[in-house]
Amino acid sequence: MCGIVGILGSEPVADRLVEALRRLEYRGYDSAGVATLEGMAIARRRAEGKLHNLAKRLVEEPLEGTIGIGHTRWATHGAPTESNAHPHATDAVAVVHNGIIENFRALLADLAQDGYLPQTQTDTEVVALWVTRELARGATPEQAVANTLEHLHGAFALALMFHDHPGLLIAARRGAPLAVGYGENEIYLGSDAMALAPFTARLSYLEDGDWAIITHDGVIIRDASGEVVKRPVETSQASALLVDKGNHRHFMAKEIDEQPETISHTLSHYVDMASETAALREGLPFDFASLPRLTISACGTAYYAGCVAKYWFERYARLPVDIDVASEFRYREPPLMPNGLSLFISQSGETADTLAALRYCASQDQHIASLINTLESTIARESDVVFPILCGPEIGVASTKAFTAQLTALAGLAVAAGRARGVLTPEAERQLVHALVGLPSAVSEALRAETQIMEIARHLSRAKDVLYLGRGQMFPIAMEGALKLKEISYIHAEGYPAGELKHGPIALIDEDMPVIVVAPSDELVDKTLSNMQEVAARGGRIILITDEVGANAAGKDVAEIIRIPQVSSFVAPIVATIPVQLLAYHTAVAMGTDVDQPRNLAKSVTVE
Ligand code: AGP
Repeated sequence: MCGIVGILGSEPVADRLVEALRRLEYRGYDSAGVATLEGMAIARRRAEGKLHNLAKRLVEEPLEGTIGIGHTRWATHGAPTESNAHPHATDAVAVVHNGIIENFRALLADLAQDGYLPQTQTDTEVVALWVTRELARGATPEQAVANTLEHLHGAFALALMFHDHPGLLIAARRGAPLAVGYGENEIYLGSDAMALAPFTARLSYLEDGDWAIITHDGVIIRDASGEVVKRPVETSQASALLVDKGNHRHFMAKEIDEQPETISHTLSHYVDMASETAALREGLPFDFASLPRLTISACGTAYYAGCVAKYWFERYARLPVDIDVASEFRYREPPLMPNGLSLFISQSGETADTLAALRYCASQDQHIASLINTLESTIARESDVVFPILCGPEIGVASTKAFTAQLTALAGLAVAAGRARGVLTPEAERQLVHALVGLPSAVSEALRAETQIMEIARHLSRAKDVLYLGRGQMFPIAMEGALKLKEISYIHAEGYPAGELKHGPIALIDEDMPVIVVAPSDELVDKTLSNMQEVAARGGRIILITDEVGANAAGKDVAEIIRIPQVSSFVAPIVATIPVQLLAYHTAVAMGTDVDQPRNLAKSVTVE
């Protein structure tokens, strides 16, 4: 998954292409490149690694062209070298691509028979070569692209620029997002609205199968069958201001720190503070009261948010929940009860596996709901109802504030469902909402353990493996803690249900194995603390995350106790998340890794 941009401009475009790419770096940062038309030649500047390498290259070797395309890459086919960096070009055409051309090998074999040979290891180059062969056979650029699109299998977005047509860009969308932006005498292309926000707020989103012919006379959009279609021009809300780190060293630190505020923001949407009731502001195309079942799909951190929500919906609304990681769900093709509710959780709203799961559910007569941060995303646009999480742009690749905002919104929805289903009395609802309203101050208090956590993280940074344990709704928090640590410190970590330890993983325990136990006082805390004793008896170094009551019950075998405030067990998973985020962050800082852009990852995973 990569980010693509294009500008058909009236002034030089190279710097603006880089500016737009900077806003897409969350999609990948293995390499970047731009191509412009310089006189009548296609000129490219490409660089391995982050965008600043490309920006430096452009200072040394500037480009002046007024039409261009650009790309930031998350490598799928071919190592992240300069030669594999986009744009890929022949003498006739340059192309940038997000997605995967699944049949590129077969197409390359066909091209080879006519002497069109690839210079790179990428799947993308096949597009440039196929279009070039079509042009050489006498096709117009439009015919050449139409023919090429017919031969491509896979999910992708493309932008192409032509040597002999200095006023023409062609773009295509199949399964990967692409927006067209309209400015004064200029037209833009971008993988999302954020990329184009510095230039224009007037956007059209291409629909699946659409392709667009862009000239100074305007934009002609054709659908998959070739028919000319109109796509509405919308006003984007995406901000032109790039979010900055403030006085924090990393975006992740800032995003961890701002959670009291972001949670307040989310809460104000999902609860009525004055009456201490759950608020449902979206018109629902379904009735919680008569729902037979809720199916949740998501990936990574969003999946763990769904795992916590399963406890909440089942306990407080007696609503049965099935939850799956989207990449498994989409191919399992489970039978779904007609009129069931399928809920998709995604920060970006562009995750390919989650989107595919959504489309499967839509084909099975399900009501489609999504819980989303990026409201202009594909998942949001394909949902019957969108629940916003309202935490603002999240830049750090490791998700933090989006997770607690997802949990906060899901908690509010679970209470609303419990009321609608007659499970919660008004007093029970009031108590749960009261606990939610106390979250911002509890989270602020949990953040105060940071200095202690920095010290613990210094030890943790020397570990090779770390085990996280939790029971019940703390099990997903253990998994989330392990995921955070893996992502940014590259230390192997596993989240395990505490009660399952004795069935195998306990064999791993020795004095070199730090074990982080997430166990605030709830009805399961005694059980978890017993499992913790089993670890202590085998020499494991225990770091316990708990509250005052849990700390008093913990005994002496604990190396460190990280205290979180005493809160209702309903909201404890949200508060207990703070120390696991801080532990991962400070371990990564102690190790000197690239916290905001860890190796091999991307913020939004738009390939399967
Ligand atoms: C979280 O730290 C991850 N980087 C990742 O697991 C992420 O949560 C996952 O890719 C899902 O993304 P989404 O919420 O944008 O769909």
